[in-house]
Amino acid sequence: MKAPTHRVFSGVQPTGNLHLGNYLGAITRFVTLQDEFECIYCVVDLHAVTVWQDPADLARTTREVTAAFIACGIDPKKHIVFNQSQVVQHAELAWLFNCIARMGWLNRMTQFKEKAGKHKENASVGLFAYPNLMAADILAYRATHVPVGEDQKQHLELTRDIAQKFNIDYAKSIDSHGFGETYFPLPEPLIQGPATRVMSLRDGTKKMSKSDPSDYSRINLTDDADAVALKVRKAKTDPEPLPSEAEGLAKRPEAENLVGIYAALADTTKEEILRQFGGGQFSAFKQALADLAVERLGPIGAEMNRLVKDPAYIDQVLHDGAEKARLIAGPVLHDVKTIMGFVQPRLLK
Ligand code: AMP
Ligand code: TRP
Repeated sequence: MKAPTHRVFSGVQPTGNLHLGNYLGAITRFVTLQDEFECIYCVVDLHAVTVWQDPADLARTTREVTAAFIACGIDPKKHIVFNQSQVVQHAELAWLFNCIARMGWLNRMTQFKEKAGKHKENASVGLFAYPNLMAADILAYRATHVPVGEDQKQHLELTRDIAQKFNIDYAKSIDSHGFGETYFPLPEPLIQGPATRVMSLRDGTKKMSKSDPSDYSRINLTDDADAVALKVRKAKTDPEPLPSEAEGLAKRPEAENLVGIYAALADTTKEEILRQFGGGQFSAFKQALADLAVERLGPIGAEMNRLVKDPAYIDQVLHDGAEKARLIAGPVLHDVKTIMGFVQPRLLK
């Protein structure tokens, strides 16, 4: 199959409340990339079960992320939106990559260390091999660009290492089957903008996260106006007024975070926000930030709530998306198995 020159892939786990970090770090980028590129957006439910997921919740959270994609402006008719477990090629390629990636590479992954914590022996094998499945997600489509938040940078580097090792280990076979010089592209991470790492509203040194026990640490996409305003008002700050220049934010993680959030929501830079609010107290700034957050997120939350009431529609979107995804991932897996030397049926040309 011919390799695409530009193809975007990204994934979001259905593991709880989608928040402002997911939105600014990833989903807004997903939306803008649609104008320029062919895009594939996946609800990564196989990744979710690397840690315990109650079967009573998994379908609901999968539909919620799908609803969020659509509510934020992703067009499932023009692009591909689906859930990972419906396209078997992800798991199949992940197995092959388990045999390409080295233990040493995975041992360096900081996300595993963070998620497994002190109980490494008790973590699932899936949690350890998680980055190989992520590489499979991307490379099953030979995707070239991957919009993600800062926290996924290391996983993207591993994806490139896997692609490169496959290309080198199988170079002779790739060439002899007429696939050209290499088979997999080395996908580029797209980590851009003023909010690639949105921090907790309670602690500016911790990432805003779905799993933080305090709901005040994050703004959820489905929070109503009162909840957003309250969370912004209660957000931790320091006693100094806001600086007039970006350098003045150094060593003030909470101030830096709120200014970054404002800039991202207003589609501008931190410098511009500080020109406006520098020298002032946090109270006025927070009021303006709350208003802006409500203005941007309110319609998204409302649309999400409307969409989740229609699970049949969401399931149809996921079904159609999976069909389109298989049309790409199926032939790629066929190529990969040919390259690796497995016996398999010949594709009808
Ligand atoms: P996850 O919720 O871990 O599946 O993340 C989905 C996407 O949101 C990924 O691209 C993450 O990098 C991004 N993301 C998650 N948390 C944050 C955050 N606090 N700031 C910026 N991006 C984030
Ligand atoms: N690991 C990503 C996260 O936790 C989710 C993910 C899975 C992903 N597969 C992917 C992101 C492929 C980009 C591309 O945020």
